[in-house]
Formats: sequence, structure tokens, C-alpha cells
Amino acid sequence: MGFATDAIHVGQEPDSATGAIVAPIYQTSTYVQEELGKTKGYDYARTAHPNRQALERCLAKLEGGHTAYAFTSGMAAIDSVFRLLRPGDHLVVSRAVYGGVYRLLTQLLNQFGLEFDFVDTSDVGATTRAIRPATRMIYIETPTNPTMIITDIAATAQLARERNLTLVVDNTFLSPYCQQPLALGAHIVVHSMTKYLNGHSDAVGGAVILARPEDAERIYFLQRSAGAGLAPMDCWLVARGIKTLAVRMEQHNRNGMAIAQFLEGHPKVRRVHYPGLSSHPQHELAVRQQRGFGAMISFDLGALDAARRLLNHVRLCSLAESLGGVETLISHPGLMTHASIPPEIREKVGITEGLVRISVGIEDVEDLKADLDYALARV
Ligand SMILES: Cc1ncc(COP(=O)(O)O)c(C=O)c1O
Repeated sequence: MGFATDAIHVGQEPDSATGAIVAPIYQTSTYVQEELGKTKGYDYARTAHPNRQALERCLAKLEGGHTAYAFTSGMAAIDSVFRLLRPGDHLVVSRAVYGGVYRLLTQLLNQFGLEFDFVDTSDVGATTRAIRPATRMIYIETPTNPTMIITDIAATAQLARERNLTLVVDNTFLSPYCQQPLALGAHIVVHSMTKYLNGHSDAVGGAVILARPEDAERIYFLQRSAGAGLAPMDCWLVARGIKTLAVRMEQHNRNGMAIAQFLEGHPKVRRVHYPGLSSHPQHELAVRQQRGFGAMISFDLGALDAARRLLNHVRLCSLAESLGGVETLISHPGLMTHASIPPEIREKVGITEGLVRISVGIEDVEDLKADLDYALARV
């Protein structure tokens, strides 16, 4: 079946007990046993529940994985993937990674003996040079949040295969509709489902999708042991959001390109980072490995004051953290999402004081342009 069909039907079969076209929310913590040890497949909701299993089947199908697991947040999902490693293991991580991942590694997992290097993974040579005898994993975000730098997934997967490493790709920014890292050779995909997969800014969640059964077994052990599996109501909300992923992403792609072109042509904007523009240094790679360019754009206004004036004057775009919803969100990465990265490192990786990030929603694009035009006139 095609992607849109799978998004609507896999894991979403009508309820067998009542015929309801939409499965009910199993809002229960425990399941009654018919006799000692005889269950209907469920015993306790931390371990498994029907809404989570339904969502996980759909996620595995859409990313082309063997298995998927749904977590309470993107960070919980990413944390469980890092727990596949042991003290003393080393990993190579994309340099301009999401601030929460930077914080998790540098302020928490470092205390448990994990070693890591932040590297410009868009340069496969730099990734190769960072590999040590203790390296076990390469963790990449592509495109990076918020600098929109792209890493060649197939080339990095080949390197991982040659050196017997696990390649993990954060696919949050594009969703499986626009990019399928497992098909390019990655072993694990992670998502903040809070973003495009859910798409409606009304639930927080994360996903791990695995190509290898042995990783799947370990992640399920972590999910049920540490107890970060997603709750029934949130699973139901994300599963509902996924049904419209294909149509939403088509509109996100169209609006993203239109806004990127508008910003690139605006005299107040110094630089636009969007892989769909031919001015993006890795445009050819984006065309090769992505099915769409998405709707995440960052642009530089040259100074913090200019960024502040723009953010304080938008009226339709909402000044808020997060991304991937139907509504347009605009933010200042340096002071918001990436504040936990030290300023000197932020500057080095291109998260400048004048950088603004926009998650273009699916509103009428002319309304968005008018709003940005109004705010830019006040910069
Ligand atoms: C690329 C990326 N990965 C992971 C996360 C973390 O996800 P969550 O906020 O759902 O924990 C985010 C959050 O913004 C993100 O942008």
C-alpha cells in the first residue's frame, strides 16, 4: 500500500468488539486475568497497552522498520537509544544537535561514563576521523536544528557498516513522509512525535524505530523497565495526527518553499537556511536523499535586536518553542530551544544572535507572507 494508505490504516483497524471505526482509548492501568497467568495479551499498562501497540505498528510501517516503540517524549526516546551503550563507549554526534540532546549528553550521561565528540557530520571525513576504538554509535540530526545542515545518510551508513557502528538518525524535522533513513542504511530512527507526526501541538511524545530485532528487544526491555512508554490518550492523539501526515507534509513543503523564497528576496534578511533553495550549499544532497524539503527554515537578521523586533511584531505567527504543527511557530534558537548550549559553541555552529527559526504551518501562505512582511518592516 502507499504511504497515505498505511498512515490511515496500519494499526488503526476498526474495534473488533463494537465495530467503531476509531479504536477506543484504553484508559486503564491494569487488565483483569481470567485465571492465574491467563490474560487477553495485556496485564499492566506500563508494559504494554492497545493504543501504544497500535501506534507502534503504524510507526514501524511508515519508517520501514522492524519494530517501533513510543515514548513519553522525544528526549525519553533518545535517552533510551543512548542506553544501548555502556560506560566507556564513545559516540560521534552531529555538532549542531538539538539543545536537549546536548544537555542530556554533557550534563547527565557523561556522569555515567559515556564519551562523545560533537562533529560536523556533514563532512563524512570529519566523522571518520572522530572514530576511536571505543566508538560504538554515530548519532546524526539531518537537517540540523536550527542550522539546516545536511548529513549524507547513505555515506554515513556505509562508514557505520565498515566500522561496525550503529547509525542513529533523528528524523524529526522531515518525518517519514519526506525522508526514510532506514532505507538509506541507518539502523535506528528517532523522532520527537511532538512535532510533525502528531502535527497538532496537543501532545508530547517520542519514537524509536529499529531495523534490527536485537536492538528492538533491548529497547522494549528499557521501555518497560524504566517506564517511559507513552500513555493511552497521547498515543491515540498521535495516531490520529498521523492519519493526515501525508496531506499535511505536502502543504508544509509548499508553504516552506514559498516562505523561504520570500525571505531570500527580502532586503532585511541577510541569509536563509533552507535545503530547498539552490543557494543552500547542500541542495543537491537534499534533492537526492529527501522526498521533500519540509517547512523548517532559519534566517539571519544580523543582530539580536533585529531578531527581537521581528519576533515582537508578528501577529499570525506565534512566538513559541516547538515545531511541526499546523500553525506557524517562530522562535529565537539562541535564547530559547538552544539556550543550554554555551554561547561560544552556539556561535561556532552558526546559531548566531540574529538567527530566527520558523516552523511554517499550513495556513494560507499569503497571510503568512503578509505577517512576516509587516514584522520585517519594523526591524
Ligand atoms: C530535532 C529534535 N529532536 C528531539 C527533540 C526532543 O523532543 P521532545 O521535546 O518531544 O522531548 C526536539 C525538540 O524540540 C527536536 O527538535
